[in-house]
Amino acid sequence: MNYIGSKFTLSSFLEENIKQTIKENDSKNLSECIFCDLFTGTAAVSKIFKTQVKKIIANDKEYYSFVLAKNYIKNHKTIKRKNELIEILNNLEKVKSKISFNYSTCGNEKRQYFSESNAMKIDAIRSKIEEWKNEDFINEEEYFFLLTSLLESADKVANTASVYGAFLKHIKKSAQKELILKPAEFEINENKHEIIHDIFQEDANILIKKIKGDILYLDPPYNAREYGANYHLLNTIALYDNFIPKGKTGLREYEKSNWCKKDKVYKELENLIKNADFKFIFLSYNDEGLLSLNQIKEIFEKYGKYDLKSKTYKRFKADNNRLNKKDDTTEYLHILIK
Ligand SMILES: C[S@@+](CC[C@H](N)C(=O)[O-])C[C@H]1O[C@@H](n2cnc3c(N)ncnc32)[C@H](O)[C@@H]1O
Repeated sequence: MNYIGSKFTLSSFLEENIKQTIKENDSKNLSECIFCDLFTGTAAVSKIFKTQVKKIIANDKEYYSFVLAKNYIKNHKTIKRKNELIEILNNLEKVKSKISFNYSTCGNEKRQYFSESNAMKIDAIRSKIEEWKNEDFINEEEYFFLLTSLLESADKVANTASVYGAFLKHIKKSAQKELILKPAEFEINENKHEIIHDIFQEDANILIKKIKGDILYLDPPYNAREYGANYHLLNTIALYDNFIPKGKTGLREYEKSNWCKKDKVYKELENLIKNADFKFIFLSYNDEGLLSLNQIKEIFEKYGKYDLKSKTYKRFKADNNRLNKKDDTTEYLHILIK
């Protein structure tokens, strides 16, 4: 999924630095550690460590993210009926319901987030998944696997520039393609007798007071862009509840994050670090974020030994002219040993 702030492309930078820090400063092996991904998003970072640590705690305040983590992290055994279930869902008769009426031109508001045909397919699949759950035809593992498969497949045919803050006037090429439900594959580790990964949907600063572990990875929003607004449609597909979409863009009510507010974010980070019962804390934060590198250093140094790693790479940025311009981007990883 193309997600704001996704760490998918930075996997090896994060894995190398986290492992190196643990190796140099702890007698414990990584396989004995509890790893917490407190702002898990697409679960990209939890995925790296899923089979390498004793336990993962993954959390995000958005429900769609909770669903992704339930599938990619909590699920660990092969879903035997996966092809059979996916095939039935792909061949359902399309129906007009919540998504078609509110987020395609089937409805009065003509919000063209999906083609009519894809919106009706989403409605058919989503309704059937809920029906199967209510009839106990599918178990919890299958439920989150199917929901994740739908979220990922629907996102691929969304008629947006990339996020769901607005839809495009004309249906773009990728959104014209028929939605095909593809299985959201997760890593299998059936051999472990006891898999106890925990998934939460809570505010990070509240959850932090209830958990403890060895490695805490933090990847909060770093600017004013609210995830609840930019990905509202993923929450709507995942929740499939009754609500009244607002205005032209069809936004649902969402709770704002203190990490997106200039006047709140410093205190939020300080409280989080103070309350964290973890020996190793890693924070990804962009140098164009609401907090400066120095402000982060100031907070971290109060609570232990601070270190900073960075990686600069070339990003190709489309220029107004014919040429592509190379642009340097730096990714920072703040490290605290408490
Ligand atoms: C930069 S993204 C994380 C990206 C993730 N590491 C990945 O690779 O996909 C930040 C995440 O923080 C979540 N978030 C924002 N405020 C939060 C809060 N107060 N508590 C928990 N999660 C929060 C957002 O929903 C979003 O998924």
